[in-house]
Amino acid sequence: MNQSEELTLPRRLRRLRVSKSVRSLVQENRIEVDDLIAPLFVHEREGGPEAVESMPGVWRFSIEDTVHECRSLWDLGIKAVAIFPSIDPQNKDPDGSAGLNPDNLIYRAVRAIKQALPELVVITDVALDPFTSHGHDGLLNEETGDVDNDRTVAMLCQLAVLEAEAGADWVAPSDMMDGRVQAIRSALDRAGYTRTSILAYSAKFASGFYGPFRDAIGSKAAAGTSYLDKGTYQLNPGNAREAIQDALLDEAEGADMLMVKPAGPYLDIIRSLRERTLLPLVGYQVSGEYSQLQAAAQLGWLELERTRDESLLAIKRAGADLILTYFAKEIAQALKGGVSP
Ligand code: PBG
Repeated sequence: MNQSEELTLPRRLRRLRVSKSVRSLVQENRIEVDDLIAPLFVHEREGGPEAVESMPGVWRFSIEDTVHECRSLWDLGIKAVAIFPSIDPQNKDPDGSAGLNPDNLIYRAVRAIKQALPELVVITDVALDPFTSHGHDGLLNEETGDVDNDRTVAMLCQLAVLEAEAGADWVAPSDMMDGRVQAIRSALDRAGYTRTSILAYSAKFASGFYGPFRDAIGSKAAAGTSYLDKGTYQLNPGNAREAIQDALLDEAEGADMLMVKPAGPYLDIIRSLRERTLLPLVGYQVSGEYSQLQAAAQLGWLELERTRDESLLAIKRAGADLILTYFAKEIAQALKGGVSP
């Protein structure tokens, strides 16, 4: 095309894409280290780190190694970790009673981390699945076989108080029982933990993307083989309005922050919640979102770093303030090295 054939256009958007420098100057969203929360798995067995097979690059650490890992995350600028315990099967029962033992793994881990790194924000799940032999997030009703909402909430309140007592800064109910945020808030306040925040897993879907996580904490199918169906308490993946309703109820019940989980497949929920709440919003890029990129990269089908960065930017762009991601450490390392997603 010669000069005379050039189009006369009022606006050429490609002008702001001409070079890396220009693109960087006009970039609307970026991932910063303060956006990141690192999930960590802790085990109670002898010995060092155990690889989580379905999550390449992710480990279960002993308490000592968890503290060590927290220190290196802190040195990279990461300010929050979420701790998930992998409890030995022999310490699990149908009532998840190990959760009420103040000396169990999770409380010991929190105490050790807070002692070593008092400024690091420690987040703990409030749910029974690490402790129940059946892997559900609550107590089962003997007649219906379903998770009993109100009995579970009563127990969650005890867990939340024990977590706060151990030093958790943010407790994160991940169980999806009705009314749990309000109950946990008043239990914490009654026990004097008015400064402990509630990060509510508000819009948590009954997702197949949690598979590798359940491997990591051993809650996959404690009973045997089948993939656990949590559909009577977690949200139906087909429902957006119901998800917003659930999240806004958590806000009304006193949640300090709201979470959408999984994040990547539910960007519409993040966006529409962003438009309806003034609370900080958290997206959880869950285990399956992580593992699918790792697997495709191992097969040579996707470029890991590009897809990783893009997946996180998408969550940020949708409206999340904070992102829980198994990529947290490597992103922090990249940012430290001057590479910005
Ligand atoms: C359990 C819990 C789950 C995750 C976080 N807390 C799994 C589940 O609900 O079965 C999933 C996180 C992930 O997949 O990375 N309450």
